[in-house]
This record gives sequence, structure tokens and C-alpha cells, in this order.
Amino acid sequence: MAKLLVTGGAGFIGSNFIHYWLSKHPKDSIVNLDKLTYAGHLENLAGLEDNPRYTFVKGDITNRADVDWAIKNVDAVVHFAAESHVDRSIEEPLEFIKTNVLGTGVLLDAALRHGRKRFHHISTDEVYGELRVKDLPFNEKSPLNPRSPYASSKAASDLLVKTYYTAYGLPVTITNCANNYGPYQDVEKLIPRFITRLLSNKKVTLMSRGENIRSWLAVIDHCRAVDIVLKKGKIGEIYCVGGEEKTNLQITQSILKILGKDKSWISFIWNRAVNDFRYALDDSKIRKLGWKPKHNFEKRLKEAVEWYKKNEWWWKKPTLKQTLIDFKNTLWQ
Ligand SMILES: NC(=O)c1ccc[n+]([C@@H]2O[C@H](COP(=O)([O-])OP(=O)(O)OC[C@H]3O[C@@H](n4cnc5c(N)ncnc54)[C@H](O)[C@@H]3O)[C@@H](O)[C@H]2O)c1
Repeated sequence: MAKLLVTGGAGFIGSNFIHYWLSKHPKDSIVNLDKLTYAGHLENLAGLEDNPRYTFVKGDITNRADVDWAIKNVDAVVHFAAESHVDRSIEEPLEFIKTNVLGTGVLLDAALRHGRKRFHHISTDEVYGELRVKDLPFNEKSPLNPRSPYASSKAASDLLVKTYYTAYGLPVTITNCANNYGPYQDVEKLIPRFITRLLSNKKVTLMSRGENIRSWLAVIDHCRAVDIVLKKGKIGEIYCVGGEEKTNLQITQSILKILGKDKSWISFIWNRAVNDFRYALDDSKIRKLGWKPKHNFEKRLKEAVEWYKKNEWWWKKPTLKQTLIDFKNTLWQ
């Protein structure tokens, strides 16, 4: 029976993780610490409000008092909270440095002061920089070479986490994961943006010719990876969690096919200044712990499309949704 502090549990991956963990571990409980930024949605956790094993704390990971309050009675921390959108990081890097670097530092400091809590840090493949087509995938030993303020703030947070292990013996692990997709992902991200635009009979815009390559993993498989690292991962170690490599054009074509539309629904635009060409991860280390993705990309993508089809209320009326969130936020203040 364990009690987890999940940070950023109202966001995309954090909320999927909370649903996964509470159903998979019926004796465990979760405290969710989330600031409810534009990316945090309490409706992702609908149905858990009266669950005695779930507590929501509205708070900021950069605020020591908020973190001290949330962390005091837990056994372990699973740290998802972050500013996570690359385009926004290019516009507003300081917010990313504050949340992702300072926020992680505040959490690590509290984890140490409150009795050396087990600490799992969620990070990204973007910390390693970009690959060309012929390069081998990155692995846990690849040098950090971030190319956007988002990636560099995550790389800095990874280094801080490692330092709390080497300097203070805090029991940490890190997972660096590929791009996720699935339910509750904000429509600012590529897959939900394309699905919801096409469902609204609007064209999708692809940068350049859509040749950039990303690795994609269903969010549920990411949750399973974190579970296995929490249970079997070696303290002080990093685990890369890979996905299936696809060009952005292939992703678009798959979504179009599922929705029965043709390529006339694509329009091409100029590339942005920083747009890494390819990410790919060698995940053989975590596979040795017994993890592998459960289903292939096409099956999981179909499920994601179905979810956005069935849950128009979640994404269709952003103004109404935002009003609801703002109202809920005032109740928590
Ligand atoms: N989405 C991906 O494809 C992906 C891939 C690999 C790693 N990651 C990492 O996984 C984590 C979660 O990503 P996501 O896509 O779910 O992000 P998200 O943007 O959907 O959610 C982030 C959550 O963190 C909360 N938050 C932001 N600042 C906070 C603060 N100062 N204090 C408390 N809460 C705060 C937000 O309210 C939101 O609920 C991030 O650390 C990200 O770097 C994401």
C-alpha cells in the first residue's frame, strides 16, 4: 500500500497516469499537485472527485510551501508537471526555465528534507537533440544536446535529478520518453490538433513537406513504463522509453485514412526556425525490465481518433471549457 505524489496530474500524461495507477493498484492512493495552468484540466479526472484514494491540491511546484504541504505524507513522487509545448518555449522561455528547472529543484529539495522520498522524474527524448535519417537512435548514454528552450529546461532538470542522487543519495530514476498520444491531450499538440481539425471539417497544416520524424508511443504504454521503473528500475538510472518512428506526413495520412478523407485536406506551410529533424530512442534497457508497448501504432491511433470523436465536449467549445476551468479555479483559491 503506497501513497504517491503526482505533480501535473491534471495534464495529459499525468491524468492518464492517475487513472491507470488507481485502477491497477487498488490499495494505493494519490495526491495530485497541479497549478492548473492553461494545460491542466480537472475534467480529465472526472469521476475521481469522491474517491477516498484521490486528493487534489491546487498548488505550484515552484512554491516551497505548496510542495511541503503536498509531499509530507507520501512514499514517492512521480514528477510530470512542466511547461511542455516547444512552440510556446520559443516565445516565452523564462516560464519554462522557472517551472521546469526551479520547480524540479524545489521538489527535489522537499523530497530530501521530508525523509528521502523515492523520486521518479518524467523527461523527454528531446533532451538529446536531433538525429539525421542514418544516425543510430539515442540511448541513455547519449550526450545532452537540447535545441529548444523546452528541451534545454528539461535537460537541466534531468541533471538536477541526477545530482540529487550523486550528491545526497536521493533515490531517483528518470524516464526519457518519445512523443505520447491518446486521450486528454491538449489540441495544441500535433495528433489531437489534426484529429479535431479534420473532425471539424478544417484542413490540417503540415510544416515543410511533413518529412520530420518523431517517435510515437501510446500514453498508456508510457504509464506502464513508469510503473515498471518504479518497481524494478535501478536507483540512480535513466531509462529511455521509445515509440514507433513516423514522419509527420505518415501520421497525417494515417489520421486521414481513419477518418475516410484524402490528401486534399493537407496544406503545407513554411518550417519554423527550430524544428528538430528526427527523434528516435533505443529502448533496449527498459525492455530488459520486462516492458514493451502493448499494441502497434495504427491500432492505438484508431483508439485515439475514436476518443476525440466520442468526447467532443472535451475539445469542441474551448471558450465554454475555459470559462468552466476559470470558474473551478476560483473555487480552489
Ligand atoms: N507529451 C509528450 O509527448 C511528452 C513526451 C515525453 C515527455 N513528456 C513530459 O511529460 C510530462 C507531462 O507532459 P504533458 O504532455 O502531460 O504536459 P501537459 O502540458 O499536458 O501538462 C502539464 C501539467 O503540469 C501542470 N503544471 C504546469 N506548471 C506547473 C507548476 N508550476 N506547478 C504545478 N503544476 C504545473 C499543468 O497545469 C498541467 O496540468 C512533462 O514533464 C513533459 O516534459 C511529455
